[in-house]
Amino acid sequence: MRAIKRIIPLLFFIPFIYSSCQQNDEYVSELPQGFPELEIPEDNPMTNAKIELGKKLFFDTALSRDSTISCGSCHFMQNAMTDPKRFSIGIDNQAGTRNAMSLANVAYGTSFFRDGGVPTLEIQVITPIESTEEMDIPIVDVAKRLNQNAEYRKLFKKVFNDEVTPFGITRAISAYERTIISGNSPFDKYHFQGDDTALNDSEKRGMELFFSDKLNCSSCHTGFNFSNNTFQNNGLYVVYEDIGRMRIEMDSVNYGKFKVPTLRNIEVTAPYMHNGSLNTLEEVIEHYAKGGMHGKYQSELITGFDITDSEKQDLINFLKSLTDKDFITNPNFAP
Ligand code: HEC
Ligand code: HEC
Repeated sequence: MRAIKRIIPLLFFIPFIYSSCQQNDEYVSELPQGFPELEIPEDNPMTNAKIELGKKLFFDTALSRDSTISCGSCHFMQNAMTDPKRFSIGIDNQAGTRNAMSLANVAYGTSFFRDGGVPTLEIQVITPIESTEEMDIPIVDVAKRLNQNAEYRKLFKKVFNDEVTPFGITRAISAYERTIISGNSPFDKYHFQGDDTALNDSEKRGMELFFSDKLNCSSCHTGFNFSNNTFQNNGLYVVYEDIGRMRIEMDSVNYGKFKVPTLRNIEVTAPYMHNGSLNTLEEVIEHYAKGGMHGKYQSELITGFDITDSEKQDLINFLKSLTDKDFITNPNFAP
């Protein structure tokens, strides 16, 4: 009898405990040292259940017309969430025209795609789904398809208290993408975590070069994510097949400008540049050393420099110290 008396008040509290657990499903991100706070859109708070649903959607081929392609078909964990192919293969074996982008730290992006043509991660989700070269299905049809699946209906009910909707699909996938954070490379251990032994002498010499006025790399590849989030013409061509930012803002000053990409995990994200035209870091450094192709719209910051072969090797070793092994083996980022 005494035991029952104790249980009754407990039973009374269970529904409250349960509902507060649901509310406290808020995702607590453990950001790497030196990383700024994330700005999460008000209409898309991060919860663990939403992130889990977003991951399931990210790797689900049901998001393409013939159920062959998922987001994960072009964004691979071991390549820092980009594609080792020069041009990714979408639906019906079609190749695109731009090299896929790493999704590492995409949460900090201020615009998306190489030309920055899309303003938010939420909206970005619709682009590959509806692109006739990538997944080729209207997102409303994806919602209809997933509504026939009992598990998805259950998960959307739990996360959004609704049936499967395009709104929910874009919110869940972008919430998941905001967890794709990389900041535990040897460089981070050295620079942000105070471990002087994390870089060897060659990597330290390469770091000096990278941040030097002579090489000037950090006038564009700067800050914790090695990008100032601007668009620049880094002198790859005189005549560009893909005019880059000018497709979005029709002013010739934008000719051949592309988003300054992060250099994090650069060792595993080859090939390089918007069109994957450079295969190795050696080729990239050659490109900058010769001062680009000197086109009319090339950035004035690309001026060229002389470095010895051993300095070149130091610079490459530094770039390779930006590889975050925990990130490229983290099962949260694989199906
Ligand atoms: C067929 C290959 C392919 C598929 C499928 C694909 N992507 Fe991509 N992704 C790319 C390419 C290529 C780019 C660069 C496109 C450009 O700049 O125009 C890109 C760029 C992005 C970007 C921009 C990153 C940045 O920093 O600006 C995000 C975010 C992204 N993809 C997420 C997704 C999501 C989410 C899905 C699934 C809904 C998806 N991708 C499906 C190839 C693909
Ligand atoms: C004027 C700004 C600017 C400067 C200075 C600059 N870069 Fe870049 N970098 C860019 C842009 C823009 C791209 C992307 C170009 C494209 O997509 O075609 C890029 C691309 C790269 C890439 C390929 C990234 C990828 O994922 O494809 C590497 C590596 C790189 N830069 C390293 C360096 C190094 C090393 C230096 C110094 C020697 C340097 N950059 C100086 C703007 C700059």
